[in-house]
Amino acid sequence: QTEISRVRNLERIQMGTWEIEPWYFSPYPAEFTDSDIVYICETCLSYHGTLTQFQRHRSKCTLLHPPGNEIYRDETISFFEIDGRRQRTWCRNLCLLSKLFLDHKTLYYDVDPFLFYCMTIRDARGHHLVGYFSKEKESAENYNVACILTLPQHQRKGYGKLLIQFSYELSKIENKLGSPEKPLSDLGLLGYRAYWAENITDLLLEREAEGTPMCSIEDIGQALAMTTNDVLHTLQNLGMLRYEKKNHVIVLTDAVVEQRRAQREKVEAKGGVVRRIEGERLGGWRAPV
Ligand code: COA
Ligand code: NA
Repeated sequence: QTEISRVRNLERIQMGTWEIEPWYFSPYPAEFTDSDIVYICETCLSYHGTLTQFQRHRSKCTLLHPPGNEIYRDETISFFEIDGRRQRTWCRNLCLLSKLFLDHKTLYYDVDPFLFYCMTIRDARGHHLVGYFSKEKESAENYNVACILTLPQHQRKGYGKLLIQFSYELSKIENKLGSPEKPLSDLGLLGYRAYWAENITDLLLEREAEGTPMCSIEDIGQALAMTTNDVLHTLQNLGMLRYEKKNHVIVLTDAVVEQRRAQREKVEAKGGVVRRIEGERLGGWRAPV
């Protein structure tokens, strides 16, 4: 099935307190193309062409958070697990919304084969959707992420890395090595490369501090639930792989250590905390069957 990539069809959307300019075409019903602004309900993700219609909807909408099980919660964020088959409308609305920021040629209208892991931040007004990733219930290629998105109003704040980390935490519990579905978008690749580089570097620094011997590519993969291929490519990109006496040797170079230190400093300077998903909080989770 081919779909000619079409021009952006919505001028602006409003979501919560945010006004956002879409990046790409998304197959919203044709009549919405004429609206100056399309109002998206922050909780049920329904769409409305006029403020009156939107306000009427809001006065009736009872949803307070994404419809599914809250499988993770820490001081600031929550994750909800949503089955595409059980929550078709909500998941289709999510796909429509995310297509505005995804340059994919095809959109999955069929949400049934997917689980959606949605991350919210909580404040006094309740839950606010920040981003999500979808995951095939059964992936022949063992992909642990199909689509991943941080809503544009929340990008570049480290949430993408949290989403990615979460996907690998699930893979750890499933005892699998995961990798995102290919091809990745440019932004997707940047996000993953940053995540992989940081986590591999941190693991090696940790091992070094413990005085445990340098580990193999397979060890790293096991520890981070990453495929050998992704580990190998990351090490190559970072210039951390040397070939000595007919063996591959992993070397933690000064350049990489320095880059990691600078990266941490940058986050702290932005007033950000280095947030992590705490795997222990997922203790009771099992892959839905
Ligand atoms: N330019 C350069 N580097 C970027 C970038 C950009 N616009 N956006 C992300 N990165 C890189 C950076 O290295 C960044 O780390 P840094 O901010 O510490 O330098 C790293 O990715 C992760 O950033 P983070 O803030 O955790 O990610 P995010 O919340 O912005 O989300 C995506 C990343 C990919 C999920 C987000 O860009 C997105 O939703 N894009 C549109 C949808 C998409 O293309 N999805 C992937 C294909 S399915
Ligand atoms: Na991987």
